[in-house]
Amino acid sequence: MRMVNLILLSVLLLSSTCHFVSAFTDGLLPNGDFELGPKRSDMKGTEVINRHAIPKWEISGFVEYIKSGQKQGDMLLVVPEGAFAVRLGNEASIKQRVNVTKGMNYAITFCAARTCAQEEQLNISVSPEWGVLPMQTLYSSSGWDCYAWGFVALSSIAELVIHNPGVEEDPACGPLIDSVAMRVLVPPKRTSMNLLKNGNFEEGPFIFRNTTWGTLIPPNIEDAHSPLPGWMVESLKAVKYLDSNHFSVPSGKRAVELVAGKESAIAQVVRTTPGRRYALTFAVGDANDACAGSMVVEAFAGKDTLKVPYASKGKGGFKRAVLRFVATQTRTRIMFYSTFYSMRSDDFSSLCGPVIDDVRLLSIRRP
Ligand SMILES: *[C@@H]1O[C@H](CO)[C@@H](O)[C@H](O)[C@H]1NC(C)=O
Ligand SMILES: *[C@@H]1O[C@H](CO)[C@@H](O)[C@H](O)[C@H]1NC(C)=O
Ligand SMILES: *[C@@H]1O[C@H](CO)[C@@H](O)[C@H](O)[C@H]1NC(C)=O
Repeated sequence: MRMVNLILLSVLLLSSTCHFVSAFTDGLLPNGDFELGPKRSDMKGTEVINRHAIPKWEISGFVEYIKSGQKQGDMLLVVPEGAFAVRLGNEASIKQRVNVTKGMNYAITFCAARTCAQEEQLNISVSPEWGVLPMQTLYSSSGWDCYAWGFVALSSIAELVIHNPGVEEDPACGPLIDSVAMRVLVPPKRTSMNLLKNGNFEEGPFIFRNTTWGTLIPPNIEDAHSPLPGWMVESLKAVKYLDSNHFSVPSGKRAVELVAGKESAIAQVVRTTPGRRYALTFAVGDANDACAGSMVVEAFAGKDTLKVPYASKGKGGFKRAVLRFVATQTRTRIMFYSTFYSMRSDDFSSLCGPVIDDVRLLSIRRP
């Protein structure tokens, strides 16, 4: 009897481990950098003419397979990971089915580059969720930006689609895509040390080791499926998610750079008790990315605000600030943005700004 139970148990354990192993957790998707390409016979010039020609992916519409160093007019195409990327022409899409764990939160990170002047956008989806990411604003001078997008798995298979909904006269216009990665997000919790979730920004989307421009958290990100758990980006422009491998961050391994002045804001709504006093503490600094000058971070807690000036030499460093307030509502909106726009002093074409990190909210007793 005991033996049978034991066998049953090990069968159960085995099947649950197998299930766990087959679900994707962290990193580049299979052939997510498109280094495995189509056979010559599946191509006409640079166009891929067979739906299943790119290993692990299914394509539709006008998709081109691009080699780094390839020329387009006067422009030399350079890809961030490895030597290959794809280009999504009019109404083109790429699709991959990924094994996931039902009910878990995920963040997709992918890098894209605009190649023509048009106002390009990409629709990224895992049915029934989707998000349209505008690509008008170039945040990095390399031309490549990496974007994050979050979803909750409603079944054990996620069908990820990246679609270019645009229709241009020139079918060779359309964004290049490279490096598609995914990461399980652990939903952060409030603790007795911090009423904010993920106040240190340690939980967030994948950042590519080989890219030096961080990952953008695009605008119109709501609470529930944010790729930066706990936080919302409601502004018109993205905020940039940084790691300590490539940038100076005030605390831990991750932080957020407010790259587009008042158009780049992050927020979180917290439960508060009207009449109670609170202290919102945070670090303001710079990422050591040649973003120099006078900066001001504005912090908001409901109707209370604090402006924190920071003189950046663009070489890393930070200071701490505290906003004390008395809550007037049962829910208080905590928000941060940068008062001014800044540009990197090394290339004058990349937006940059102050970094914030280690945001804590505590209830304080009256003395
Ligand atoms: C996804 O899951 C299916 C069925 O559970 C399995 O056959 C397949 O090998 C898995 N794919 C990957 C890439 O793990
Ligand atoms: C990252 O860059 C290094 C050095 O250039 C290279 O050897 C490595 O293959 C790259 N990794 C990826 C995932 O492209
Ligand atoms: C984005 O793609 C999804 C899935 O294909 C679709 O349901 C949605 O309508 C699309 N959104 C836009 C604005 O094109």
